[in-house]
Amino acid sequence: MSDRVFIFDTTLRDGEQSCGCSMTVAEKVRMARKLVELNVDVMEAGFPMASDGDFEAVDRIGQEFGGVTVAALARCHTGDIERAAQALAKAKRPRIHTFIATSPLHLSHKLKMTEEQALEIAVKSVQLARRYVDEVEFSAEDATRTSAANLITFSKAVVDAGARIVNLPDTVGYSIPAEYGQLVGQVVQALAGKAMVSVHCHNDLGLSTANSIAAVQAGVRQVECTINGIGERAGNCSLEEFVMALKVRHDVLPFETGIVTPQLFPASQLLTEIIGVGVQPNKAIVGRNAFAHEAGIHQDGFLKERTTYEIMHPNTVGVPASQLVVGKHSGRHAVVDRCQHLGFELNKQQIETVYHRVIAACDRKKWLSDQEIAEIARAVLGCDVIA
Ligand code: KIV
Ligand code: ZN
Repeated sequence: MSDRVFIFDTTLRDGEQSCGCSMTVAEKVRMARKLVELNVDVMEAGFPMASDGDFEAVDRIGQEFGGVTVAALARCHTGDIERAAQALAKAKRPRIHTFIATSPLHLSHKLKMTEEQALEIAVKSVQLARRYVDEVEFSAEDATRTSAANLITFSKAVVDAGARIVNLPDTVGYSIPAEYGQLVGQVVQALAGKAMVSVHCHNDLGLSTANSIAAVQAGVRQVECTINGIGERAGNCSLEEFVMALKVRHDVLPFETGIVTPQLFPASQLLTEIIGVGVQPNKAIVGRNAFAHEAGIHQDGFLKERTTYEIMHPNTVGVPASQLVVGKHSGRHAVVDRCQHLGFELNKQQIETVYHRVIAACDRKKWLSDQEIAEIARAVLGCDVIA
């Protein structure tokens, strides 16, 4: 089995479904350009049946970006599939992504149909989509609350109908890694290489990245994810976390993606600028604090050897530099380092005085800017101008 894992980015579809994250057509095109630089394999540009804007976004992105597969979402409804096909008509590498729920819960409460009815609709929808495009992906919505036996029945049937990719979403972020790996692994085995198996994990329990990794270990070769992990409710698997887990832990996860990792931080920043919603400071890989060190022991270790407290170089993900934050937990080493950066040469006595004043100031506020540190150093040196 190949060790290449394909990255299906759904920032422009599931991602924009998160509260307050919707994008205009122009914004989607701008983000799509960055996703191309990032070298994603597939980008889901929208749900054409949902709005005219989504239709136009799929149409424009499909025509403008020829080197990447552009997917459009469609429920297993004739109208949705025809609308998706229309939006993709001029795309260079189109994919129709059609879905129907397969879990007893969704079938009885939401769709009010039997499993047999859903199976028939799924097969007919895939056949219809195949009349328009070669690449059809089928998703069994709420797969993680569907039995393995039923998932295998659906998967085999849609593959016989022409689906090339079978996606098994953890729609409500309910699964845990070992269980999910077990479930998707059974489908991988049952399909025996006739189609690619894909996963799409939501983050309701904070397990979307771990679940995606477990799935890859079980033989899945497409992972659906979003920049900054945006998406319905608690979001989707974060593209940057998944990709960097494979890269940093290649010793135990011997898989490759095509992602140009120095574009991860720029992509995260661009998305934040476009939607006006940022990530939390401690967000892995792209958060403000992901490469910031405040504790004295950490700063001392970092200054002696970076890898004591950093498992990846910030430049590998496009972050310009690590940061030593001067706060109340900082040690003398960091204060001296900052002062040297700012151009101050201090003797032992001056270092002690500056250090104690810095720590005292940090008790009143959370951390000090370079300017505030410089002011303290200047006062201690009794000068007005930076040396
Ligand atoms: O979460 C989900 O199940 C989805 C499908 C449409 C793939 O977003
Ligand atoms: Zn989803």
